[in-house]
Amino acid sequence: KRVAVLLSGRGSNMEALLAAASSPEYPAEIVGVLSNNASARGLATARARGIEAVCVPQKGFKSRAEHDAAVSEALSEFSPDIVCLAGYMRVLTADIVTAWAGRMINIHPSLLPAFPGLDTHRRALEMGVLIHGCSVHFVTEKTDDGPIIAQAAVPVLPEDDAETLGQRVLTAEHRLYPMALSLVARGEARLEGDRTVFAGAGG
Ligand code: GRF
Repeated sequence: KRVAVLLSGRGSNMEALLAAASSPEYPAEIVGVLSNNASARGLATARARGIEAVCVPQKGFKSRAEHDAAVSEALSEFSPDIVCLAGYMRVLTADIVTAWAGRMINIHPSLLPAFPGLDTHRRALEMGVLIHGCSVHFVTEKTDDGPIIAQAAVPVLPEDDAETLGQRVLTAEHRLYPMALSLVARGEARLEGDRTVFAGAGG
């Protein structure tokens, strides 16, 4: 399956996907990277690996929807089967989400439905949870809300601050995202209505 990655920053999850995709048995290849942020480190990393990487900055667009239309168009140049959001820090509008329904997935640094939105590690510590983690889900119109495909849990340790906890979660993300993408690419996890259906789960 052809996969395009949308990112805004560091791009470590994209690197994890690239590493997984370098194995011949992996069911997906990263064919393009798109960012709204020209200085995203992920763009430079992708180019250095010979992956086509383009920037569609939001500047100059009158609305979020217009920017998303340009993003959609740039994305379609890659002819992707699946779009992976990996630290794409912009909320997507209805049209683009609908167009990619069941074929667009996101990684979020919490065990959803706990802590959607930003600053998840600080909020997890404030809340005093003892288990934290990350989730990969199908993208729906509501941010960080779509049907869950896979999750990984990590312990919260007494001495943790947001940085140490975030690092532990990030390590889990780098294992989880390639696994979740492979489920979707193999058709073993599919969006049906508002549920994820897993192949081989007795139905
Ligand atoms: C990750 O924590 C991801 O879960 C969140 O944004 C961060 C992106 O990090 N959505 P990176 O750009 O993949 O390094």
